[in-house]
Amino acid sequence: MVSFTQFCILYFYFIASVVSQVSEFISIDCGSTSNYTDPSTGLSWSSDMDIMKHGRQVKVENPNGNSMQFQTRRDFPSDNKKYCYNLSTKERRRYLVRATFQYGSPANVDAYPKFEIYLDATQWATVTIQDGSRKYVNEMIIRAPSDSIDVCICCATTGFPFISTLELRPLNLSMYATDYEGDFFLNVAARVNFGALTKDLVRYPDDPYDRFWESDLDRRQNFLVGVAPGTARISTSKNVDIRTREYPPVKVMQTAVVGTEGELSYRLNLERFPANARAYAYFAEIEDLAPNETRKFQLREPYIPDYSNAVVNIAENANGSYTLYEPSYMNVTLDFVLSFTFSKTNDSTEGPLLNAMEISKYQQIAAKTERQDVTALNAIRNMSAESVWANEGGDPCVPTNWEWVNCSPTPPPRITKIALSGRNLKGQIPSEINHMEELTELWLDFNSLTGPLPDMSNLINLEILHLENNKLSGSLPLYLGRLPNLQALYIQNNSFSGEIPAALLSKKISFNYEGNPGLHNEAQRKLRFKLILGASIGVLAVLLILFLGSLILLRNFRGKMSHQKCDENGNSTQPGTKQSTACSIARGGHLLDEGVAYCISLSDLEEATNNFTKKIGKGSFGSVYYGKMKDGKEVAVKTMADSSSHLNKQFVTEVALLSRIHHRNLVPLIGYCEEAHQRILVYEYMHNGTLRDHIHGFLL
Ligand SMILES: *[C@@H]1O[C@H](CO)[C@@H](O)[C@H](O)[C@H]1NC(C)=O
Ligand SMILES: *[C@@H]1O[C@H](CO)[C@@H](O)[C@H](O)[C@H]1NC(C)=O
Ligand SMILES: *[C@@H]1O[C@H](CO)[C@@H](O)[C@H](O)[C@H]1NC(C)=O
Ligand SMILES: *[C@@H]1O[C@H](CO)[C@@H](O)[C@H](O)[C@H]1NC(C)=O
Ligand SMILES: *[C@@H]1O[C@H](CO)[C@@H](O)[C@H](O)[C@H]1NC(C)=O
Ligand SMILES: *[C@@H]1O[C@H](CO)[C@@H](O)[C@H](O)[C@H]1NC(C)=O
Ligand SMILES: *[C@@H]1O[C@H](CO)[C@@H](O)[C@H](O)[C@H]1NC(C)=O
Ligand SMILES: *[C@@H]1O[C@H](CO)[C@@H](O)[C@H](O)[C@H]1NC(C)=O
Ligand SMILES: *[C@@H]1O[C@H](CO)[C@@H](O)[C@H](O)[C@H]1NC(C)=O
Repeated sequence: MVSFTQFCILYFYFIASVVSQVSEFISIDCGSTSNYTDPSTGLSWSSDMDIMKHGRQVKVENPNGNSMQFQTRRDFPSDNKKYCYNLSTKERRRYLVRATFQYGSPANVDAYPKFEIYLDATQWATVTIQDGSRKYVNEMIIRAPSDSIDVCICCATTGFPFISTLELRPLNLSMYATDYEGDFFLNVAARVNFGALTKDLVRYPDDPYDRFWESDLDRRQNFLVGVAPGTARISTSKNVDIRTREYPPVKVMQTAVVGTEGELSYRLNLERFPANARAYAYFAEIEDLAPNETRKFQLREPYIPDYSNAVVNIAENANGSYTLYEPSYMNVTLDFVLSFTFSKTNDSTEGPLLNAMEISKYQQIAAKTERQDVTALNAIRNMSAESVWANEGGDPCVPTNWEWVNCSPTPPPRITKIALSGRNLKGQIPSEINHMEELTELWLDFNSLTGPLPDMSNLINLEILHLENNKLSGSLPLYLGRLPNLQALYIQNNSFSGEIPAALLSKKISFNYEGNPGLHNEAQRKLRFKLILGASIGVLAVLLILFLGSLILLRNFRGKMSHQKCDENGNSTQPGTKQSTACSIARGGHLLDEGVAYCISLSDLEEATNNFTKKIGKGSFGSVYYGKMKDGKEVAVKTMADSSSHLNKQFVTEVALLSRIHHRNLVPLIGYCEEAHQRILVYEYMHNGTLRDHIHGFLL
């Protein structure tokens, strides 16, 4: 009754688990043309037509058996590219990833394929087909590093790379957890079901996690040899409690081998070894031992310190028969040829027993391209999502780089060059590009890029930037001039506008900005302006010098004349400057038609007019007196009644005008006097006027 209840609990446990696991299985039949459910397992397989655009579907010739998954395969070109399947995962969840390869047996084969498979950037295996009828299986146990993984096929050395199936199986709980899972995948090297009833491998649905448990009866080359004499196969139909850590399938635990002569010994080739490995042994006492019977044994070979001395007593270790005891070796270094021997202890009545074992190599996880670079590249790929170049899968750099990028050699790879000239890119340059700090070359010329340049000020290693022949607009950002390694900047035939940063023009770089009508070369303009300004100043200076020179010459000349006359005429007290000012102003007026007006001192005028006694006329401005100069010249002396006017020119003009109207006979002007607030004009005295007076009057 108790066992029945237990059975029911177990039964429902497995049904539940199977249901929950299986819905998350990803099973891809590569090269298949349709989706189907495989009746032998009940698993749903999907064609890779929708997820793999590369390669070709190939019908396998003479497939081994009628397993549905191996009727077709997908062949890829033998080139320097990689072909990747992108599988979505849950980050940090553990998975079993399996890729299988069955080439088939065509009538004549030149050379079977040999190529590489990668899981993300990590080299997974070299697939070397030697037997076309054999199914080559590669399994990797991983803790998903992100929300998707890439399984890539590449690097054929012979034949065409191909793949038959790709499977993703989520694991549960802490199955296959290791101390190193952040840095290492587990590359499964052997998983053997001892005492198997048939040569068939055990998988789903017997194993809810769909691991492949290979039968120890599968006598393929280098697989499992050198069985010790007296090895017996035993099995039970009783349930085995497998709820420990790795949950091996009950079916596997129900069979075992026993060393009836006290020893169990096997030899097994471990591909890609020597290496550090995670190893598991699965034991369950499936014989009903009598009370006087015991089964105790030790691992004699290989010698593993701390483990080899321990005595295994399965039923005791597992706390009961039909219960899993699962000693494992977290980190053991194993050779390519693994020879292992279990020997019974001297006090044991029964020989050693082994149900199953599993050995996985620690596979160092290789660094993928720096995430921020990938993010930027994805944004760029999204600008031309349908293009072939934008759909090269996998990591941009590993194992081979995308055709349009270059990568730095040291892990983690960084993108150093983007070459997308003339790739029909549309839209704006994505802002993510600013995080690609290792970028040295960016070629985006001859596309249809629009909008302004994004911030690229972090690209301090950028040497070459080609943006010509796009539709980019906006101003040239200042940071361009500050990129310390920039050697070449080509932006011709765009719609940039505004000022060119001065730093760009002063730096020693190849800089071409033709064909941007809105772009101003402020520095050049300034230079031109400076040149013009310089020239103008020069010309002005020369003119000024000439002007001043002539002025000085003239003044000297005038000054001389004036001084001569004043001196001749006696003690002029007029200061030189005032005199010269008055003279120049008078000369600048319209009064002078002949000769030169000069300063006449007040005392001379007083003398000539006999102290202004003979008045010959009077106007609103003042009186006009008759006078006779020392040289006998008769003059008319007009005094200004209002001496407050300081505007000499106006004064002169007005006086002249008034003189013309009221004294037509007063012309021409001989001299003037501006002294002691007196303003006096001295004209030649004309008797009764002349024809010349009239003409002159009109001219005035
Ligand atoms: C996996 O874990 C979940 C939650 O712990 C549980 O519901 C489910 O039954 C487990 N499946 C297996 C196969 O252990
Ligand atoms: C096959 O199944 C996948 C999902 O697993 C689906 O995306 C695809 O469209 C199916 N293809 C066909 C031909 O039904
Ligand atoms: C892989 O698929 C995931 C979603 O399932 C997607 O986010 C990611 O970009 C894809 N990776 C590549 C390289 O296409
Ligand atoms: C395993 O042990 C070796 C030697 O002690 C050590 O170098 C290595 O880092 C360990 N871990 C792995 C995952 O190999
Ligand atoms: C154990 O006892 C049984 C009888 O009860 C006997 O037949 C058998 O030989 C004994 N086995 C050993 C190893 O002593
Ligand atoms: C071993 O199993 C028995 C019952 O079968 C149980 O009473 C005992 O607690 C178990 N011991 C351990 C250490 O699990
Ligand atoms: C077991 O017996 C053999 C001889 O029959 C002896 O050489 C060996 O040391 C013994 N082992 C132990 C652990 O007592
Ligand atoms: C890709 O472009 C489409 C529009 O063309 C946009 O809706 C989507 O968000 C873009 N995806 C990414 C990751 O930039
Ligand atoms: C700019 O465009 C014109 C006309 O489309 C073309 O002739 C010229 O070669 C282009 N300049 C560059 C540098 O490509």
